[in-house]
Amino acid sequence: MVPHHADPARRLIVREVTLRDFRSYARLELELEPGLVLVTGENGAGKTNLLESLHLGTQGFSPRTRSDAQLIRYGAAAARVALSGERGSTPMLLEVTLGLDAPKRACLNGAAVQSTEHLRAEISTLVFTPDRLAVVKGGPAARRAYFDRTLGRLYPARATLPVAYAAAVGQRNAALRRVAAGLSSRDAVAPWSARVADLAAALVAARRDTLDLLQPGFCERAGELGLAGGRLDYASEAPTVSALEQRLERDVERGSTGLGPHLDDIAVRAGDRDLRTFGSQGEQRLAVLSLLLAEAELLRSRRGVSPLLLLDDVLSELDAGRRRILSEHIGSGGQAVITATGAEALPLAPAQLLTVVPGSVRGG
Ligand SMILES: Nc1ncnc2c1ncn2[C@@H]1O[C@H](COP(=O)(O)OP(=O)(O)O)[C@@H](O)[C@H]1O
Ligand SMILES: [Mg+2]
Repeated sequence: MVPHHADPARRLIVREVTLRDFRSYARLELELEPGLVLVTGENGAGKTNLLESLHLGTQGFSPRTRSDAQLIRYGAAAARVALSGERGSTPMLLEVTLGLDAPKRACLNGAAVQSTEHLRAEISTLVFTPDRLAVVKGGPAARRAYFDRTLGRLYPARATLPVAYAAAVGQRNAALRRVAAGLSSRDAVAPWSARVADLAAALVAARRDTLDLLQPGFCERAGELGLAGGRLDYASEAPTVSALEQRLERDVERGSTGLGPHLDDIAVRAGDRDLRTFGSQGEQRLAVLSLLLAEAELLRSRRGVSPLLLLDDVLSELDAGRRRILSEHIGSGGQAVITATGAEALPLAPAQLLTVVPGSVRGG
């Protein structure tokens, strides 16, 4: 199936990138084109660093490290990423600064952003890096985190549910430990059980809705990429108040809530096979890419803005046929930045070809 082109009025496009002391870049000023941007360069040249700067600038954090200090160029005290472009027909100016001795600051159109979650709620960037295989092959926590972020992007009004639910579980756990320590009675846990049950029901419903939305596109993209029978399985039931209360003794003993969607898993399958244990590395990669493509299409059709796609080190791992299918899909949306060691890895002509050499980027 040939993907249709997104309405140009509804794309998230980064036009200018300005970096100061970010990773291997002391100073960089770079213009980007809409559409498919291919970033080439030798190993270690700085391709991933450039992608990372786009992620930091649009989402407020790095997809590859939790330590912001690592992002500051060796020997420098602060780093800055500034991006300008547009969201639909609205101009967009993003700026993130990091300092060794200063807190991270983010601004959107000149106004300070309270936290990076706010940035994520406003701007959608989807990223593939080889680390993302953890979505399929990692433990349940990695999948919950991934699909809960998707939930937040597809249903902004429900984006705070996962955090609110986790907070309620945390408070119930604290109440359980006070009981165990003899500091309060068992009755004191009841209000928290009720709150956990309420939020659990809302979270399970939101996860189901999210997976129902993703399912058809996931199956279709996976099929095109040669992974038949792609399926997302979520067999969770939210615990009732009485189910939680029945566990009270055991929960007091272990000091934590042993029932609820914070323990759920979402199986990513091909036919009857759970790809976590029975998928090859190649199949796991195709599944992660199919999830990304399915979500990008949903963001386009439901939220009206094509997300920025960042794909690192994916082409070299795919055969020519799959490279073509992937390139056609990512090239059809708003803007996609993809890395490769050489231009021949992309089976079609990109909108822009960039060549990275240590510390700088040459553009076409
Ligand atoms: N904080 C930093 N300051 C300066 N250089 C850095 C920093 N972090 C990483 N680098 C350098 O960036 C280079 C790797 O860049 P990377 O984008 O991962 O390359 P690739 O083109 O292979 O994706 C390495 O040479 C590394 O030393
Ligand atoms: Mg790299």
